[in-house]
Amino acid sequence: MASDSAQDQVVYITTPIYYVTAKPHIGTTYTTTAADALARYHRLRGREVLFATGSDEHAQKVVRAAQAAGLDPRAFTDRVVTAYLDAWDRMKISYDRFIRTSEPEHVEVVSHVFARLLESGDIYKDRYEGWYCVPCETYFPEDELLEGNLCPDCHREVEVLTEEAYFFRASRYSNDLLRELEANPERIKPDSRRNEVLSFIRQGLQDSCVSRSNQGWGVPVPGDEEHVVYVWFDALINYLTVAGYTVDDAKFARVWPPTIQLMGKDIMTRFHGSMWPAMLMALGVELPELLFAHGFWVAAGGEKISKSRGNIVDPWDAVELLVEESGCTTDVAVDAVRYYLFREVTFGLDGTFSSGGLLARFNADLANDLGNLLNRTLPLVERFLEGSIETPGPGAGELSEDVARAVARAEEGYETLDLRGMLEGIWELLASANKFVDERAPWDLHKAGKKVELAAVLYDVVDTIRVVALMIAPVMPTVAEEIWRQLGLEDLALEMRWDDCQAGKLPAGASVRRGRPIFPRIDLDRVRQRSAARAQQEEAARRKEEGMISFDEFKKMDLRIARVVDADPVEGADKLLKLTVDCGEDEPRQVVAGIAETFSPRELIGESVVLVANLEPAEIRGVQSQGMILAAGEKQPLALIVPDRDVEPGEKVR
Ligand code: MSP
Repeated sequence: MASDSAQDQVVYITTPIYYVTAKPHIGTTYTTTAADALARYHRLRGREVLFATGSDEHAQKVVRAAQAAGLDPRAFTDRVVTAYLDAWDRMKISYDRFIRTSEPEHVEVVSHVFARLLESGDIYKDRYEGWYCVPCETYFPEDELLEGNLCPDCHREVEVLTEEAYFFRASRYSNDLLRELEANPERIKPDSRRNEVLSFIRQGLQDSCVSRSNQGWGVPVPGDEEHVVYVWFDALINYLTVAGYTVDDAKFARVWPPTIQLMGKDIMTRFHGSMWPAMLMALGVELPELLFAHGFWVAAGGEKISKSRGNIVDPWDAVELLVEESGCTTDVAVDAVRYYLFREVTFGLDGTFSSGGLLARFNADLANDLGNLLNRTLPLVERFLEGSIETPGPGAGELSEDVARAVARAEEGYETLDLRGMLEGIWELLASANKFVDERAPWDLHKAGKKVELAAVLYDVVDTIRVVALMIAPVMPTVAEEIWRQLGLEDLALEMRWDDCQAGKLPAGASVRRGRPIFPRIDLDRVRQRSAARAQQEEAARRKEEGMISFDEFKKMDLRIARVVDADPVEGADKLLKLTVDCGEDEPRQVVAGIAETFSPRELIGESVVLVANLEPAEIRGVQSQGMILAAGEKQPLALIVPDRDVEPGEKVR
């Protein structure tokens, strides 16, 4: 971590750069939002931050997606990048740099790195044959494939590719890298991921193929235009490009090494944990201070959420759900989703994304704990202190220890990426503050005329809310600003600074400005009822699709016992008989039945059968038919459906 004393050093935070095949989903949003929260935290501390994210554009799957959309890759990537920029804007991602691998500056750096490693012998040309997964853009050794030659990651079929190619001599750095990582346990986190990386490297790093044949998309290999640089090699270099590598030495000196490189666990071991540091060693460049891999969000049922599996959870759906159910603003809903992502699951472990969980947390943590403290306190300040907070007399500072504890935990959480622990600490403070209001009962102090005590209690609570606003600001920037405004701190032009996360720093003279509740409570019963109704409708639709009918639909059928009183062939139709049946009505009916091949007219007369009595009348071969006789047999009638004992004509069948 860049220390405060290293004034010049920039806190450099990266996310992976994303394949621009579709718009962002919950996975990419997770990494990016976490990086954003960290970037905001460091800025709040007054540190200079370079927060970079971007787009990984030279992948085969991008070419395929472009083809499918009927666009050339450039036009296609331009379009999807716009969707990313828009999504990041809406999720309030405060990146300083959005790098596209197709931009000239990056292409230049990639060419430079490649040429340099060719020169040093760290890249060489050879033939390659291997199992390649196109959706994952990865070669896999045979023993890692799943049965049926399926990709171990996305479970699709892999292909054998043979080509002349360039190889990166990773094997040369295997031992050095292992030694380096073993000596620095803080470089890769969490420990579970670090152990995976170490055991991967202990098997010995293999030289890896870092080029593909040039199909017109990608960074050409310098001096050999028949090849382009492999998308992963190209993509990892983005982190160097952003830092000004080879193009701005002064900047590079200030920015490098990255302070935090965030990613999901799937791209740690093979890429960020081994290929990337080996590349840096080959270039003689310092390794990142921290590589951190978070876990995966899975959909209910344990399935991985990912584009290639098609079960995308769009974070925007979650935002819209909150707006719809609670009536909060879109900006607040964005903050609530951000909060949910870090509160629900320990950063580093897997979690299950559920809209029920999201709504429940909105009510319990945001509307109740945080919203309630604010909404109950401001009216008290208005009523008892004429809306204004002054420097308290003796007795204030009762919550100081709780505040200090939460601040210490939050600081540690932000620094060590324990984002859940950080939020838990803040929520413990909220619980203490709510309890403090209950116990000190400002309304009773007012009644008893204890003015000094009353002012001290309200000062402590408002001051605590101020510190909470500061601490949650990196995760919930809009909410923090709104609280700041309602506390009257915006009017005082008080800047948000982490250094003010201490009890007793609430300036005198703030006039509170009560607003609409930030988190209107959600009626969870109503949500449950509606979702049960929706589930029922969906079930009914599914049944319909499967050919099922409801009981009501069945009840519409008028089935009755009918006695055949007469039967005749239909002229010119071998399969048809014209029956006259008595079904208990005043007049017998005439029914045409396709049973002539199995039954003779004579054997039918006097027989009791089942008639569909409310079938629309039809004319069959010029003969009127008022109903249908039931028979078994799909292709041809095998048997008539008859009652097993005497029943009067007209009796209902049900
Ligand atoms: N382009 C590469 C990264 C190159 S970086 C030099 C890539 N891109 S991606 O678009 O597939 O982004 C994947 C990112 O989203 C990774 O950090 C990945 O781990 C994360 N996630 C994808 N699905 C996820 C979940 N379901 N849950 C959490 N994060 C997951 O990989």
